[in-house]
Amino acid sequence: MPIRNVVYRQREAGQVLTDLSDYRRAGGYEALRTALTEMDRDETVYAFVRSGLRGRGGAGFPMGRKASFIPKDSVLPAYVVCNADESEPGTFKDRELMETNPFQLLEGITLAGYAIGAVRGYIYIRGEYEHQARILDAAIAQARTAGFLGQGVAGSGFDFDITLYRGAGAYICGEETALLESLEGKRGQPRLKPPFPAVAGLYASPTLINNVETLSALPAIIEHGADWYASMGTEKSTGTKLFSISGHVMKPGNYEIVLHDTTLRELVYDIAGGFRPGREFAAAWVGGSSVNVLGPESLDTPLDYESMAEAGSSLGSAGCIVMDDSGSIVRATLRLAQFYRHESCGKCTPCREGTLWLERILQRIVDGEGRMEDLELIESLAGRMVGRVLCALADTGVLPVTSAVRRFRDDFVHAIENGGVPRPEPMMEVPVGG
Ligand SMILES: Cc1cc2nc3c(=O)[nH]c(=O)nc-3n(C[C@H](O)[C@H](O)[C@H](O)COP(=O)(O)O)c2cc1C
Ligand code: SF4
Repeated sequence: MPIRNVVYRQREAGQVLTDLSDYRRAGGYEALRTALTEMDRDETVYAFVRSGLRGRGGAGFPMGRKASFIPKDSVLPAYVVCNADESEPGTFKDRELMETNPFQLLEGITLAGYAIGAVRGYIYIRGEYEHQARILDAAIAQARTAGFLGQGVAGSGFDFDITLYRGAGAYICGEETALLESLEGKRGQPRLKPPFPAVAGLYASPTLINNVETLSALPAIIEHGADWYASMGTEKSTGTKLFSISGHVMKPGNYEIVLHDTTLRELVYDIAGGFRPGREFAAAWVGGSSVNVLGPESLDTPLDYESMAEAGSSLGSAGCIVMDDSGSIVRATLRLAQFYRHESCGKCTPCREGTLWLERILQRIVDGEGRMEDLELIESLAGRMVGRVLCALADTGVLPVTSAVRRFRDDFVHAIENGGVPRPEPMMEVPVGG
């Protein structure tokens, strides 16, 4: 159950590589030089494919395959867009990557740009990440001055630059097509797919969109080789993954682990320090909040894409929110329902109205006005939302609600039969030592 800082090696305690010379001393930009001088574009894409790297933003789509979808014969310029919107509840890994090693991300974006023949990269960063935006701005300026961005990157014939764009703090702008709309200066609402961004993305041009963690992994894949990356984890869950763990654990934070090597129990107890004395594990939302909640019977599940699916949930963004037995699952579910109602962009009626009604039903259960039929009503309402909307906000936003009602039915029945959930709210106490 090793915790390795292999792919994101700068993450050793307290190490920050915000100065280009420090990054270069740590071997930075060698991967880009290797690609530019020893590999052609197809070989670079092929290395990404062979690494097995899957998108770390939530959906887990193979990165190299996505890059291979970018048409080579387009008359329009191609773009790389880095999704740094990071708004999934419980997820804060991209923030640390941008803060501690902005150049690894810039190098990764440039490598992706070279692989697909892009002319420009954009980083779309959530509005609240002002500090991280400043760090990135400074890093982009340093990279430009040193010739790692601009005309003739690192003395090659490849021209490429990166622009930072700050969002205004909307969860929906993390959805890739809403992000593109926002980047184009329009209202951030999802587009109908297809066409997918690889074919018609930013300004209708071929666009590769990837998460910060996905792109930050590329330099290590080129530097150490695709086989090295693929040798970690399992056939379909290769490499390492950053887990953000939060909630009732004693040592919340970001931890890089090799996929499949670690179980949920080891993450919660051995890595994140477990709970306060006398407290037991109650529930976890392992992939951010847009997933099925898991109970104690899932503690021995290995942390990888397939095992999580077999356990009835998904790895998602690996923003693992953990609750001990001092919390109320009913109240926690209401809090998540409030989030999805607030963040629905309102474009589709089933999502706009459905998220509102889910919140209202849960609120009345918490307030002691719930009825037993409400549990079936939640199921039926969720069933009318899924698959009838434009994006995954509603499709996956109902999961924490329906799974909680199924897995923790006794807690909901108890709340309905006993006048709601008692206050004061014990749910999100700040863990001691957190
Ligand atoms: C409502 C919603 C919010 C999303 N938020 C993010 C986000 O903050 N960051 C992210 O990388 N992907 C987010 N995604 C996933 C993106 O649509 C897209 O799959 C991802 O950026 C692709 O990059 P990847 O393949 O590297 O994961 C979100 C999706 C949805 C439906
Ligand atoms: S599902 Fe919800 S968030 Fe997504 S486009 Fe429709 S209304 Fe907007």
